[in-house]
Amino acid sequence: MIQQVNPARGLNGTVRMPGDKSISHRYAMLSAIAEGPSEIRFFSPAADCGSTLGCLEALGVTLHCGLEGENQEMVVRVEGVGSTGLKPPAADLDAGNSGSTMRMLSGILAAQPFHSRFTGDASLSRRPMQRIIDPLSRMGARIRSAEGGRPPLEIEGGPLRAIRYELPVASAQVKSAVLLAGLFAAGATEVVEPAPTRDHTEIALEHLGADVERHGRTVSVRGPASLKGSKLYVPGDFSSAAFFIAAALGLPESNLVIQNVGLNPTRAALLDVLVPMGARIKVLNLDTVNGELIGDLHVESSALEGGELPAEFVPGLIDELPMLAVLGTQMTRGLSFSGAAELRVKESDRLRAVADNLRRMGAAVEESPDGLSIGGGQSLHGAEVESYGDHRIAMAFAVGGLFAEGATQIKDAEAVAVSFPGFFELLTRHAE
Ligand code: S3P
Repeated sequence: MIQQVNPARGLNGTVRMPGDKSISHRYAMLSAIAEGPSEIRFFSPAADCGSTLGCLEALGVTLHCGLEGENQEMVVRVEGVGSTGLKPPAADLDAGNSGSTMRMLSGILAAQPFHSRFTGDASLSRRPMQRIIDPLSRMGARIRSAEGGRPPLEIEGGPLRAIRYELPVASAQVKSAVLLAGLFAAGATEVVEPAPTRDHTEIALEHLGADVERHGRTVSVRGPASLKGSKLYVPGDFSSAAFFIAAALGLPESNLVIQNVGLNPTRAALLDVLVPMGARIKVLNLDTVNGELIGDLHVESSALEGGELPAEFVPGLIDELPMLAVLGTQMTRGLSFSGAAELRVKESDRLRAVADNLRRMGAAVEESPDGLSIGGGQSLHGAEVESYGDHRIAMAFAVGGLFAEGATQIKDAEAVAVSFPGFFELLTRHAE
């Protein structure tokens, strides 16, 4: 599908984001292995989270999904099977486009007394899995992959031993895979991070009754653990909100409120970067739901200074960098960053995708092996751009299209459904 985006003067009104994708995956997986029923409200409608639910059903977990309440939010009811209740899947488990599904669920499958085969779509089949194979093998699982540590994965689960693991790359998915496996191993499984990454797994585990300890960059979980089913509420997705924040800031006549956004500090680094650059963003109605910070954001058009992003911000901004790079064209000093080689192994090579599309829209960009440098004060012109089948690239360039002169055509725009079905409708309804 080709999606056309027309230029706009501002983004206005009040919006809500879909439920957080990262948190929805975790609540679904943890509810499945908990004792007793769970109810997950505002579950993400993302196709990726649908992949997690499909895999859990294939493992014998009973789920009921429906739209409820005045906001027609998605509610998922999960009949937890407990720590020994998963069943061998009758066919391959399909993670679709979702790295989170494959990496995190592998942590649970590593401990099961059965064999599973995990597959994914063409993009996921190119993504690195050695990063979970290494620690899970050290814990005692036997995992085979295609060449180069790529999917499909054949997982021969069994009894696991607790380990201490120093992550070679900052990755919340890998950290989570090891912690989930640790739930099934006797003793404390410890993970040491090179830089802080999103801590939704730790928060959810604590909330559901696991024994979790955190000291600096080390987190440990004590197994064998028994989780208790619960009523859970998923905050709005900050990474989805990032596109609305960027559009509202970069357009000259915006006044936008985004309600009920997850503001966990390990996710909201975008605010820490943008506010000192001059972004007019106010946080309102702060609250906590099942251990996660949540609030409303009021965003107004702003002149942004830009500059070089300090490297320590990169892991906390990893999903927001494509959008930030596009917004960089509208900043006085432009934007540059390095230390982001991980972007090359996401749903697409996001450094290349951003650089190519920005050039198509007339911007000057320099690409390095691990970063980008974007000149400031650049006017974009409408062009035909590629999504590369990557949801975040499609959404970043939809916002680029609002900034541009003339219409922009986004190819393979249906990719947005991976994290945000209804994105284009919501964006165009509030763009004026
Ligand atoms: C995620 C972690 C990040 C992020 C991804 C979701 C998670 O991936 O890019 O969109 O839910 O834990 P990595 O763990 O590969 O950094």
